[in-house]
Amino acid sequence: MSFSIAEAFAPATVANLGVGFDILGLALPAPGDIVVARRRTQPGLTITKITGDHGKLPLDPSKNTASVAAMKVLQLANRLEVGIELEIHKGLPLGSGLGSSAASAVAGAVATNALLGEPLTRQDLLEPALDGEALVAGRHPDNVGPCLFGGITLFTRADIGGLRTLPIPSDLHLALVTPKVEVTTAQARAVLPPTIPLHALVHQTGQVASLIDALYRGDVPALAQAMSSDHIVEPARKHLMPFFDEVRQFALQHGALTVTIGGAGPTLLAVCRRADDAKTVAQAMSDAYQQRGIANLAHHCQVSLQGAVVTNFQ
Ligand code: HSE
Repeated sequence: MSFSIAEAFAPATVANLGVGFDILGLALPAPGDIVVARRRTQPGLTITKITGDHGKLPLDPSKNTASVAAMKVLQLANRLEVGIELEIHKGLPLGSGLGSSAASAVAGAVATNALLGEPLTRQDLLEPALDGEALVAGRHPDNVGPCLFGGITLFTRADIGGLRTLPIPSDLHLALVTPKVEVTTAQARAVLPPTIPLHALVHQTGQVASLIDALYRGDVPALAQAMSSDHIVEPARKHLMPFFDEVRQFALQHGALTVTIGGAGPTLLAVCRRADDAKTVAQAMSDAYQQRGIANLAHHCQVSLQGAVVTNFQ
C-alpha cells in the first residue's frame, strides 16, 4: 500500500554526552522538526516550502538534509519513478546543538518511507538519514541514531551494525538551555585538535567506559561524573559558548550534578536526579543568560524512548 501524503515528526537530540564524541547521543521528547511528503505526478523531488528557518535553509533538493535523505530512501526502495514534494517545518533552531540537521534528515527519510507504504525498516533508514546529515555536520550517527531509534544510543561504528541502545536510569532528569547564538558544527569541529596525546586517549576511553557502566548500573551521579570528564573536546570548544563557565557554575549551585556542551553547542545540558531540580536548574541557566543580555530557551525533561514518528498519512 502507498499513500498520497505522509507527515513525520523527528525530535531534538543531544550528542556526545561529554566524553562520547561522535558516538553517544540521546533523544528528547521535544521540540522537533516536521516533514510533510506529498506525491506529485512527475518523478523527482522538490522542496515546496520551509518554515521556521528564517530563510536560511536551501530549497535546492541536492543541498537540503531532508531531501537528500528522502532521495536515498527512493533509491534504496527502488522507487525512483515516484515524484515527491516536501514541506519542511523547522521546530529546531539551526546551529543550536540540538541535532537540527539530523532531525530534518530523519523526518525526511521517515515521511518518504511512510509515503511509499514503508518498504524499508527503521534500521534501513539509518543510511539515508546519515547521507542527509553528512551534508552539514559530517557522517556520524550520534544525533541521527537517537533521533531514529529514541533513548540513549551508542554507535561502536558508523553503521547499523554498530548500534547499541543503552539503559536509561529512571532518575535521570535533564535541564537544557539554548542561548540565541549560532555555533555551526563546522565551526565547532574546526577548533578541535587534529591529534591527541596517548594519555588523553587513555583518560577518555576510561571515561566512556565509566559512562556506559553507570548507565547499566542506573547510577546518575557516576554518569554525571563521567560526562564531565572530557579533557579533549570541551576545553577546545568552550570559548565558543558564551559565558560557559559562569552558567555552568550557576547550574551547579542550583542542584545540577554536571553541565556539558550539548553536541557542538551552544546548548548546555545539565544532569539532575529529580524533576524539581531539573526545573530549578533550567530556570537558573535561563536567568544567568538573561542577566547577561542573551535571549535563550530553556526546558527540562527526561530522555525520550521514542524517536521519530509518522504523525499523519492518507
Ligand atoms: N558529535 C558532533 C560534534 C555533533 O560534536 O561535532 C554535532 O554534529
